[in-house]
Amino acid sequence: MLERLLYRSKATNTLGSLHLFNMLSEARAKNARMGITGHLLYTEEVFVQCIEGTPEAVESLWKSLKRDHRHYDLELLARGPQETRRFGDWTMAFSSYPSLNRFNMPGFFSVEKEGMSAEAERCAQADI
Ligand SMILES: Cc1cc2nc3c(=O)[nH]c(=O)nc-3n(C[C@H](O)[C@H](O)[C@H](O)COP(=O)(O)O)c2cc1C
Repeated sequence: MLERLLYRSKATNTLGSLHLFNMLSEARAKNARMGITGHLLYTEEVFVQCIEGTPEAVESLWKSLKRDHRHYDLELLARGPQETRRFGDWTMAFSSYPSLNRFNMPGFFSVEKEGMSAEAERCAQADI
């Protein structure tokens, strides 16, 4: 069975390319081990992340996320079972401003000030 969880949080510190690259690299390695896929959006010190995987894997990551002091005010937006993965190709796709992709990470989708990437729109759909 598959579950999807969507939340929003605030970044504790303003993050630059290097921090984001390191955080994503670690997250992706662990997600690969846990069978988690998803998408993280970071704009204006706000995160919106969707994670999908088995209910056990999603619950375990959610517990870790709630303990993580790099963000706060975590707000659960949606959570429930789903039939198919929306981000099956990515251990964690990442959308942000082009200036925050100095290290050319794979699975990066550019967000311009005026609009979201299609991936970010797909992530934020709260229908479950
Ligand atoms: C915004 C944000 C997104 C994160 N996304 C993930 C993720 O997708 N997968 C992951 O394993 N850790 C992610 N982390 C890191 C986790 O919060 C946690 O530090 C990591 O999973 C290790 O957890 P543990 O110490 O409980 O093993 C993220 C952290 C932040 C602040």
